[in-house]
Amino acid sequence: MEKLVIEGGVPLKGNVRISGAKNAALPLMAATLLAPGEHVLRNVPDLRDTRTLLRLMGNMGVKSRREDDVLYIDSTNLEHAEAPYELVKTMRASVLVLGPLVARLGRARVSRPGGCAIGARPIDFHIMGLEHLGVRCTLEDGYVDAVVDSELTGNVVYFDIPSVTGTENLLMAAVLAKGQTVLKNAAREPEIENLIDMLNSMGAKISGRGSDKLIIDGVESLTPADATIIPDRIEAGTYLIAIAASGGCGTVTHCNPGHLPSLLEKLRHAGLLVTETEDSITIGFPDKEGDIERHISGVDIKTAPYPGYPTDLQAQFMALMTLSGGNSVIKETIFENRFMHVAELHRMGAQIKIDGRTALVSGLGLNSLDGAQVMATDLRASSSLVIAGLAARGRTEISRIYHLERGYENLIEKLTGLGARVWKEAE
Ligand code: EPU
Repeated sequence: MEKLVIEGGVPLKGNVRISGAKNAALPLMAATLLAPGEHVLRNVPDLRDTRTLLRLMGNMGVKSRREDDVLYIDSTNLEHAEAPYELVKTMRASVLVLGPLVARLGRARVSRPGGCAIGARPIDFHIMGLEHLGVRCTLEDGYVDAVVDSELTGNVVYFDIPSVTGTENLLMAAVLAKGQTVLKNAAREPEIENLIDMLNSMGAKISGRGSDKLIIDGVESLTPADATIIPDRIEAGTYLIAIAASGGCGTVTHCNPGHLPSLLEKLRHAGLLVTETEDSITIGFPDKEGDIERHISGVDIKTAPYPGYPTDLQAQFMALMTLSGGNSVIKETIFENRFMHVAELHRMGAQIKIDGRTALVSGLGLNSLDGAQVMATDLRASSSLVIAGLAARGRTEISRIYHLERGYENLIEKLTGLGARVWKEAE
């Protein structure tokens, strides 16, 4: 096992190029199961999670090859409609094969994911939705056995809470169902729009893109896609926060500022100078009469479905708030156990109190954290520890970095390009 070592205290400076979004790449890759033939996916990040999904699809008979950031996926010989526990337990998003498998083959056997480091994360909405479309789901030996007895048929599906992968799974099933499906209270994340664009380019008929009501008129068959993955808004947000926390200034490029409405406003409220172009965001501290004022104000956040503040940027913002000159109230409304980074941030000197799903952060000012040995618990918690380590005085060692490798492409190279002192060492 490897650990990440950071010698903190260097203000980050320069440009960093954002990769394709993990959470868009995964559903778009799964959508290639819907139509036989060779699909082309561009701007696909090379991550542990995208490799896991390719391995899972490979077990089903799908062939794939990568040339730089382009994936060629041939799903002509799709045979085994099974997602085994060994793969699903390492990546919950494996459940995204359920919708396309029942649509194309009329059956699927997918392991139930079980809990994870951020909460129970049930898949009851996915199952309920598929049952509304005429899929018979039985739960046995830890697996969901899904069978279409006669034919997949459109229906109205209402989500109690907008679910990102739930909406994606239902979209992928409904495109080949007979008749019309209406998804109500659907999730509206940009990754869903990316999937809708790909499915429509394959011949699907989906309207309502960008709203919480999606209407899908089923079609007989689809053709292979040539689609491009949108930039990773969570990666972009993570680097923006890292630059601010280190007291630096820099630009994230090849991103879509329109996908980060809430974060950019919160950063501005915290006193940071944030400017946007069509595909880049620059962050730094304001210049007050010739002096750069390196001060961050305490700002409250509450996570919410898009376009609210993303839960996937909550841990990183908390690391930033430990460096503010004030107090911050952070409410996590999406997952019940997403404060695992707090105990690790305490080890670095942060002052945070937890009360249920609320964290009260007393900022101690920039340069107030000290390097320490800490442990990564999940992907985004790990990136908050990286941010804290970059801002801290001295050496931080983060163990279990495989979590980071699930979602941040070329993390060390990108941080080094911004001037950070960071490297991997054997544990
Ligand atoms: N929920 C249910 N039942 C379900 C599905 C969801 O109760 O069947 C609940 C969840 O427990 C949660 C809420 O609904 O309270 C929303 O969860 P959602 O289904 O939207 O989460 P997800 O689809 O499993 C995706 C991302 C996550 C991200 C969440 C929220 C992918 C592959 N994963 O998960 O990304 O945190 O949406 O935005 O798209 C990450 O990248 O680190 C990550 C965890």
